[in-house]
Amino acid sequence: MVDSLAERRILLGVTGSIAAYKAVEVVRALKQRGADVIVVMTPAATHFVGPMTFSALSGRSVAVEQFPADGQAGEEHLDLARWAEIVAIVPATADIIGKMANGLADDLLSTFLLACEAPCCLAPAMNFRMLRHPAVQANLVRLVERGCRVIEPEYGRLADGEVGEGRLADLDRIVQVIADLADRRHDLDGRRVLVTAGPTVEPIDPVRFISNRSSGKMGYAIAEVARRRGAEVTLISGPTHLPAPAGVTLVRVRTAEEMRQRVWEHLPGQDAVIMAAAVADYRPQQAAVQKIKKREAALTLDLERTTDILSEVAARRPPVLVGFAVETHDGLAYARKKLVEKHLDMVVYNDVTVEGAGFEVDTNIVTLIHRDGREEDLP
Ligand SMILES: Cc1cc2nc3c(=O)[nH]c(=O)nc-3n(C[C@H](O)[C@H](O)[C@H](O)COP(=O)(O)O)c2cc1C
Repeated sequence: MVDSLAERRILLGVTGSIAAYKAVEVVRALKQRGADVIVVMTPAATHFVGPMTFSALSGRSVAVEQFPADGQAGEEHLDLARWAEIVAIVPATADIIGKMANGLADDLLSTFLLACEAPCCLAPAMNFRMLRHPAVQANLVRLVERGCRVIEPEYGRLADGEVGEGRLADLDRIVQVIADLADRRHDLDGRRVLVTAGPTVEPIDPVRFISNRSSGKMGYAIAEVARRRGAEVTLISGPTHLPAPAGVTLVRVRTAEEMRQRVWEHLPGQDAVIMAAAVADYRPQQAAVQKIKKREAALTLDLERTTDILSEVAARRPPVLVGFAVETHDGLAYARKKLVEKHLDMVVYNDVTVEGAGFEVDTNIVTLIHRDGREEDLP
């Protein structure tokens, strides 16, 4: 298979974060995979890494100045905007995130970004206090809603010695996201895909509920990729903290029963149904109308089964139906059984006891079990 990065024109924006030196490795990896890379640095970024380093690795001159010292009026930002097929900002400072979200253009990189219509991703890196500032968070949400892919920073020791969220994402992940953006496949053009995601919450009383640890990340990622490959995507999601992926119709629900109803509404005409939501199997028989008071005695909750949405959908025989199996023991055997009993085309089996797999992480380790018996491990 041809590498999606081969011969693609990638503009890498480097901004003034202490993590700027890591962008050097990203350029190396992109070049190794055959991409053509131009680096644009902000003036602040040049305090951290010299343009010479990027120039030597990319084999192209590095653009920094909006107004060159020789007084030659150029339109470099527009030339670059026409040239770039994919844009990646690595690392992205709070400053450039703010400029992008608000349409400011006071240097070459930010001016270029306003003029460029190519798909864009950015990898924030900053101190955790900066990252959690409401202004930065609001700017990131705005960019995601506009279709910019944000490569979430990681938790760990930061350059200033503090520990928190804000460390530049793993370099392999950054390169993978850029490769995904470069993927030209449009094999889902004209197709309709329904995805479910996240947990459901089942009320016990007005202030309490039963739920599970699903973050929704898997379903949201699937919806985003299906959209990028051309599908018309409906995402039915339980409560999550994730912004709606751009271009996807997002339907928010809370309980298993609400999810069931919305799935039924949207099911007709779907080409594929991918059910990644972690739907409650049980709910309190009766949610109390008023908050249950604390007493000395133990409290027993009577639970009843929820309706199995996957089985109901399977009975309607959509052209492609994919289920998920999350287990902590004997999972593979259970997943194979689920495939047969529920007449699925594929089960994604997820052993949540493995590090790097399961809930609330950005990575996963799964086995795909196909109807024809094929099994594929995705490490
Ligand atoms: C040593 C040092 C490290 C910095 N690291 C970061 C950082 O990791 N993330 C960030 O958002 N800003 C960081 N800053 C602040 C930015 O450099 C500053 O906001 C600058 O104006 C960003 O400009 P630019 O977005 O045009 O590159 C740092 C500043 C200094 C002096």
